[in-house]
Amino acid sequence: MKGIILAGGRGTRLAPLTEVTNKHLLPVGKEPMIWHSVKQLVLCCGIMEILVVTSTHHMGDIVNSLGSGQRFGCEFTYRVQEEPNGIAKALLLGEQFSQDQQIIVLLGDNIFEYSIKPHVEAFKKQQIGARILLKEVGEPERFGVAALDEKQIISIEEKPKHPNSNYAVVGCYMYDSQVFQLIRKLNRSPRGEFEITEVNNLYIEQGELQYSFVQGQWMDAGTFESWYEANEILLANNNFILPQQE
Ligand code: TTP
Repeated sequence: MKGIILAGGRGTRLAPLTEVTNKHLLPVGKEPMIWHSVKQLVLCCGIMEILVVTSTHHMGDIVNSLGSGQRFGCEFTYRVQEEPNGIAKALLLGEQFSQDQQIIVLLGDNIFEYSIKPHVEAFKKQQIGARILLKEVGEPERFGVAALDEKQIISIEEKPKHPNSNYAVVGCYMYDSQVFQLIRKLNRSPRGEFEITEVNNLYIEQGELQYSFVQGQWMDAGTFESWYEANEILLANNNFILPQQE
């Protein structure tokens, strides 16, 4: 099992802070934002090989912050995403790196109060397919929103005007090696991006998408409000990630 952290994008909602600094290097609590994803993968899940994807412009700073991985006890590989054309396209850069193993993909601006380990353990037991994490939120229209029946996810809609549930798909995706051939099937969405939601919908069509619910607080720290919230949580916990509640 390998880890992939996506830290490209434009970060426009945090401008002007992101005019010079990559969003994922802004502080949350006492550490750079991207360190949280690294700690989730390495300290909580024991994943030692991690690919970090970011833009040409910010690669130098990201490497300066993370280094080889020695200080975290892992090994980093880096790849440049030339154009911020979507999460799915950023992930495609991880095809060779993943070597047909299962992958855990984290968006570098997502902060979880609790360890993701139990979800990763559940995914390890899956022979095939993908697993996503859901969280009940107050403003589902900001996210990919999952429609559920009693047992499974029926569909996911990206940033819907009229969400049919309050369950947001959070930025932690777990895939088998089919994911790369599914990404190749995608076309650009109306907003000009290759959408990870479409990849997850292809897994639903194949009957191979599992899910679990995130416990505790979660946020994508991509707006000023949610970034402040993330700061509050991580400061209170001294940037420690809590073990999952039973
Ligand atoms: P978003 O928050 O959707 O986009 P963004 O980071 O560009 O921010 P804004 O909308 O304010 O301009 O991205 C979610 C995560 O995915 C974030 O951690 C960056 C990552 N990402 C990439 O790595 N490559 C991409 O092409 C995009 C769009 C996002």
